[in-house]
Amino acid sequence: MSRVFSGIQPTGEPHLGNLLGAVRWWIADQRQGDCFYCVVDLHALTIPGDPAELRNGTLTMATLLLAAGLDPEACTLFVQSHVPAHTQLAWLLECTASVGELRRMTQFKDKSARGGEEAARAGLFTYPVLMAADILLYDTDRVPVGDDQRQHLELTRDLAQRFNSRYGETFVVPEASIPPAGRGDRIMDLQDPDKKMSKSSESAQGTIGLFDDPKTIERKVKRAVTDADDGPDAVRYHPATKPGVSNLVELLATIQGRRPEDVAADYTRYGALKADLAEAIIALVEPIQVAYRSLASEPGSVDAVLRSGAKRAEGVARATLARAYEAVGLTLPT
Ligand code: TYM
Repeated sequence: MSRVFSGIQPTGEPHLGNLLGAVRWWIADQRQGDCFYCVVDLHALTIPGDPAELRNGTLTMATLLLAAGLDPEACTLFVQSHVPAHTQLAWLLECTASVGELRRMTQFKDKSARGGEEAARAGLFTYPVLMAADILLYDTDRVPVGDDQRQHLELTRDLAQRFNSRYGETFVVPEASIPPAGRGDRIMDLQDPDKKMSKSSESAQGTIGLFDDPKTIERKVKRAVTDADDGPDAVRYHPATKPGVSNLVELLATIQGRRPEDVAADYTRYGALKADLAEAIIALVEPIQVAYRSLASEPGSVDAVLRSGAKRAEGVARATLARAYEAVGLTLPT
């Protein structure tokens, strides 16, 4: 059985991009492989944030993942900071990575641009190394992620290969598993279709939160940026020249499991496309919200899932860490 690992940050409101680019695929995988899914709370510390929000966000995210369909009988769900091996292996990998390759990470460049690189937290710079540790600890074969994580996955592979050639075979070299182009790999902001939909987006209007109510979803979809022409053949799937409408078409195609070209062929004007899209999104998120409310009313049961998930994760992670310690010449206490 192949080993699958993926993670999601607990900060900011989870959105449609997270669901369609990643979580939906996690759910589909959970009975195909031996899957480890992680709420990566340590990663959230790389940018400023409020401790109470992080604490609540971690439980909220775990609850939401269960509500969306992760089954703790079928997969291992846990919180990153509950398994100390993540930060322990990260140090070994920091001593494997070079400053130059971390400097080339586009997410570091983007996220440090606002406040300036000088003021950015050192953890934001080494973030991809912690991510590599997350993955490599579990002898992971496959990592289901959205397209924005492609470069981090390449780095993870490079670090695994470099470590293996320096110290002997220690890590499995993982593959990224990204949805096919136009099928959820890169959901764009509804107000700015050149930017990906993101938790940290400046305008909440461009991001559909998984907790949004039907009215809010309808409003956001209705106001989504399309293009100036609204003639009889306004709906065409052509991301390069019609990014706004193409994003809406991709969204509907992804939810319906169809090809974007086929979906576009069903419509002529924006209004009908938007009405069907809003309806499809509401039908997708409403059952998740209902399940969330019921699970959130008994937080003890989510805690229990996370506790047993951490125990299982710990066992696997500790064995890999011991191999890596041994390989580099560290001695483990007996
Ligand atoms: P995060 O928390 O930003 O996002 C979680 C997952 O959602 C995907 N995603 C998207 N997919 C399509 N369109 C979008 N607009 C969109 N926005 C987000 C992301 O690609 C991701 O799969 N660094 C990671 C978390 C992480 C991780 C890991 C992932 C830490 N360690 C190990 C995999 C393996 C992140 O910040 O994801």
